[in-house]
Amino acid sequence: MIIAVDGPLAAGKGTISKALAAHYGLPHMDTGKLYRGVAYRLLAQGLSPHDQAAAAGVAKSLSMQGIEDEALRTAEVGAAASVVAANQAVRQALFHLQRDFALQPGGAVLDGRDIGTVVCPEADVKLYVSASPEERARRRQAELSAMGEEISYETMLAQTIERDTRDSGRADAPLRPAEDSHLLDTTGLSIEAAVDKARLIVDQVRSAKG
Ligand code: DC
Repeated sequence: MIIAVDGPLAAGKGTISKALAAHYGLPHMDTGKLYRGVAYRLLAQGLSPHDQAAAAGVAKSLSMQGIEDEALRTAEVGAAASVVAANQAVRQALFHLQRDFALQPGGAVLDGRDIGTVVCPEADVKLYVSASPEERARRRQAELSAMGEEISYETMLAQTIERDTRDSGRADAPLRPAEDSHLLDTTGLSIEAAVDKARLIVDQVRSAKG
């Protein structure tokens, strides 16, 4: 079974995907990490994420080895990841890594922005996880604060809206729900409640398909 989980920044898709993967015994890929990995490598070499040729080169030979998870989660790397994600050559290079992961025997759970629309249009279950920009900004602020990065709520909200606009507005594989995706709004929901709803959707789709 392939489960595709898409949605904007800090909607809860990472937490939901990990919980679904554990529940159904499937491997999980956070595809945003690949884009963040490209951004991290560029910044580490003093290169701009806007340098299209450099970003494509990094993506084609991307190795995630030796990159700490925490280094990928910073606001700087996230913003640069959103820039490299609009680069078509980067998306093409990372497509194969994601597709191979999805097609392993038994299936997988992948979360990102274009899993249900581009990477795995044939996924068995597609979830589109969203939440209000205000709630996502608050969650992201708390997440960064726990890592020692203090950013005001106003700045976080502005960054969240800017990221949404860039992710949804790009020409190649923009963020949007697949037509056959199931919408899950996590605004005001606890983690447990959101995960329960996601499992219910997956179980309903599976039993409907027989
Ligand atoms: O989910 P995230 O914040 O870690 O993603 C980082 C950036 O990568 C985000 O701006 C959108 C982009 N991305 C994408 O374009 N396609 C994906 N499948 C995953 C992430």
